[in-house]
Amino acid sequence: MGLVESKEWQSLETHYKKMKSVHLRDLFKDNDRFNKYSIRLEKLGLLFDYSKNIIDEETKKLLLDLVKASDLQTWTDKIFSGEKINWTEKRAVLHSALRNMSGKSVFVDGKDVMIDIKHVLAKMEKFTDDLRNGKWLGATGKQIKAVVNIGIGGSDLGPRMVCEALKYYADGPAVYFVSNVDGADIYEVLKKLDPETSLFIVASKTFTTQETMTNANTARKWLVEKLGENAIKNHFVALSTNKEKVAEFGIDTNNMFEFWNFVGGRYSLWSAIGLPIACAVGFDKFKELLTGAYEMDVHFKTAPIEQNIPVIMAVLGIWYNNFFNAQSYTVLPYSQYLHRFTAFLQQSDMESNGKTINRNGEKVNYQTGQVLWGEPGTNGQHSFYQLIHQGTKMIPCDFIGIVNPPKRIGDHHEKLLSNFFAQPEALAFGLTKEQATEALKASGASEEDIKMLTPHKIFEGNKPTNSILLDELTPKTLGALIAMYEHKIFVQGIIWQVNSYDQWGVELGKKLANVILPELKQEKENIHDCSTASLIKYYNKVKK
Ligand code: F6P
Repeated sequence: MGLVESKEWQSLETHYKKMKSVHLRDLFKDNDRFNKYSIRLEKLGLLFDYSKNIIDEETKKLLLDLVKASDLQTWTDKIFSGEKINWTEKRAVLHSALRNMSGKSVFVDGKDVMIDIKHVLAKMEKFTDDLRNGKWLGATGKQIKAVVNIGIGGSDLGPRMVCEALKYYADGPAVYFVSNVDGADIYEVLKKLDPETSLFIVASKTFTTQETMTNANTARKWLVEKLGENAIKNHFVALSTNKEKVAEFGIDTNNMFEFWNFVGGRYSLWSAIGLPIACAVGFDKFKELLTGAYEMDVHFKTAPIEQNIPVIMAVLGIWYNNFFNAQSYTVLPYSQYLHRFTAFLQQSDMESNGKTINRNGEKVNYQTGQVLWGEPGTNGQHSFYQLIHQGTKMIPCDFIGIVNPPKRIGDHHEKLLSNFFAQPEALAFGLTKEQATEALKASGASEEDIKMLTPHKIFEGNKPTNSILLDELTPKTLGALIAMYEHKIFVQGIIWQVNSYDQWGVELGKKLANVILPELKQEKENIHDCSTASLIKYYNKVKK
């Protein structure tokens, strides 16, 4: 039986018909609502308030029935124990092993992967210590002052986001990121650098990605022109699963930090891909990041589903995506340090669950994958919040706030957090016609203006939000926050019955770009549709 035909889904459909006309104002007549619908993780200093969602006890029960019917527990056991749940690539999905602090072994094909993981972690520790202490020197004997990570997708977004988030703790070399194949990206970074004091990290799981290899070759050429071929061993390291390609590129494989096919690109920041993080903040803080993620893994594996944050987040997402037909959702961090968090999550979430084919190889007849977007508050408030408050679409939001910021400057933080608290309140409860009219009267508006303005001043409210509060933004709490979203994505993939760990959808565009490349160099002509053909023709005519 298909998901939509299941009795759990059907019960939710029926229940939705009732809940679609329920308002949060009514639900909040229950004064105990916050206590009923919030979860505090004491150990991590994390509070998750989901009371401002259009749910009641019955909704929660029915959503959790859906979880039970999905056999989540079995799938959770499978993912953590190294079963090959990425069936289209026949791979295990073991980012959890990279942060496994339990001391227990994890096996893939009869081999304990923890042995290799620990070995690479030790190698990363030695390298980052040496780099930061000036033991690892450039070819001319100078200390490395700038590290450039060259990678894209999962080999960029995770470490880049974490380096930004932990900037307050950064006390190592400056870390730059180059990802775009647009030459402007590497050009603007290289012009700031001194080759004698710069080190390039070429980060690519496959070591074949066009963007990364093009940037890496440009960086290599730049360095060799200035310091000669022999300098490569002091100025290039690689993060990859592909030893042969690393050697082919000319990087000494002793300077390669390995990871494995059981680590998906978008889940790889916990692996050697996290090297730029360790360079920036030190290996101990990188380890704290892993510890935070591990603590969240423990919560996810052991908490009952009623008290399990990733599970609750996942089903709320499904409630709006599949029953309210919400077209997207936002993640809104009220922390400048987290300004890349949503961009990072876009890959994690959309590359994972943007799928149409289910476990039986059939096309699904329901919506999968949530469209995710957002910007840090309060910048977003002065941009797109208008549409969330008064537009025609329902856009559920995750608000993320920090109680104690790494650095307090005057009353900035109180101002920031007053907005963090105010926005979900405004979204939930809005402003009624009576309240809007009263406010206009109080402002001295004329009868005519009151009549004209009132409809525009009404806020319908009933916009669902989650509020996530971290007591502090530390490597540990950040690790937990990231892992929390990773598990949310996993649970949704299980319920939607899709493979969250492959990404075939990125292949076709790549292939076609390879067909077009020689045409732009005017080496070859191919047959295209009239639009693509005319665009290429136009480019070749206008290009200087
Ligand atoms: O965008 C597709 C993708 O395969 C991502 O999943 C991955 O993170 C990225 O490309 C980079 O791949 P690689 O690390 O192999 O260069």
